[in-house]
Amino acid sequence: MLDNLYREIILDHYRSPKNRGEVEDPDIRTKGVNPLCGDELELTIQLDGDLIHGIKFDGHGCSISQASASMLTERVRGLRLSEAGKLVEMVKEMLKGSTEVNLEELGDLEALQGVRNFPVRIKCATLAWNALKVGIEDGANSHKHAGPDSHETVFTEH
Ligand code: FES
Repeated sequence: MLDNLYREIILDHYRSPKNRGEVEDPDIRTKGVNPLCGDELELTIQLDGDLIHGIKFDGHGCSISQASASMLTERVRGLRLSEAGKLVEMVKEMLKGSTEVNLEELGDLEALQGVRNFPVRIKCATLAWNALKVGIEDGANSHKHAGPDSHETVFTEH
């Protein structure tokens, strides 16, 4: 029953992805690459101070990667970069099977945990999250008016 609910949440995000495209004038631009399949996913982020004011994703990949990216954008908008960084770690821990993670804090993101049963798909689920992690680390100190270019980083899953 719960599995069906999770599947529905993931399928909903895949069929009707939220925040697809590119934000205007991004402060952070970060890309993830899954070498197993070559799929790429890019996140663009607008900051307001250290708050994630806008975030969109673009790129191609399987249903899990696209749904996970869509869920990520919904969840981290409005968070501080540090809070988003903590969330990234929680999602990754959950996908590793950690029992330490407070699933209530994850909300709908808990739906991704079914992916643990398909180890080869874990990289699909973490693609956007790892891209966000690297983008946060590289862009945390960027300031919107510091220069014409946003920070651009590329993360390759290993
Ligand atoms: Fe490429 Fe999932 S198969 S991201």
